[in-house]
Amino acid sequence: MQVKKKVSVNDILAAKGREKIAVLTAYDYSTALICDRAGLDILLVGDSAGMVVLGYASTVPVGMLEMLMLCRAVAKGAKRAMIVGDMPFGSYQPSPSVAVENAVQLIKAGCDAVKLEGGLEIIGTIKAIVDAGIPVMGHIGLKPQTSSLWEGYRLQGRTKESAMKLIVDAKALEKAGVCSIVLEMVASEVASEITQSLSVPTIGIGSGAGCDGQVLVLHDMLGIYEDIKPKFVKRYAELSKSILDAISHYTNDVKAGKFPEEPNTFHMSPEELAGLKDALRKARKK
Ligand code: KIV
Repeated sequence: MQVKKKVSVNDILAAKGREKIAVLTAYDYSTALICDRAGLDILLVGDSAGMVVLGYASTVPVGMLEMLMLCRAVAKGAKRAMIVGDMPFGSYQPSPSVAVENAVQLIKAGCDAVKLEGGLEIIGTIKAIVDAGIPVMGHIGLKPQTSSLWEGYRLQGRTKESAMKLIVDAKALEKAGVCSIVLEMVASEVASEITQSLSVPTIGIGSGAGCDGQVLVLHDMLGIYEDIKPKFVKRYAELSKSILDAISHYTNDVKAGKFPEEPNTFHMSPEELAGLKDALRKARKK
């Protein structure tokens, strides 16, 4: 996206049909700095942090305090990319007013928009957040927060009926005023159909090339977990191996007395050192 300033919701809306939208998850200051330099359009502070950063078995345990901490760190690092904060499980289900309060917290932490999982069933909540002036990214298809409690992580939109439900959900989200919609693990034919029928951009993950943009979990595309290779992920690096090699090398160097070396060492001035030795000699004689 050829904007020098901060990427805005309007830039994302205007990209539809003109330019693909590049999105990755980010969870901390240092990677947000790098993602911003690389020219990403959107950084999603996803509740996938629960699994890839905090080591939980699913995204369900993630709470607002954890999300707020991660969002503040990403917002400090990313000055150009638009930042979307995920609303964690339990932060929007109780009532639309609880959802608005929590969405406000994410915006105060530095997010430019919030994302929540669901279609028709949460449309009142989405409208309440949009009415509060907060941009919302929808999320349909595989919804990890609730899929993990029911059928598990499975491809969505495989049948005519489930495809029709997704299309109805997407239309309802658009009408409620979302600024974009994540389509997660949706059959590519259905994702393309939804994309063509909407005026707002779709951001796909495991949903084929027909979406307006793509999002991946940063740790997946960087290969930080050697053994986790979902089919829809393309690995752009093998960081697990590089990090392991570097840390093993360091450990061996410390054990062998090879680190630190002269360039990593600080010294007293020769005059101060001579003075110290003299003072110690005199002290020992007393
Ligand atoms: O939490 C997350 O990272 C997400 C993406 C997978 C879309 O919701």
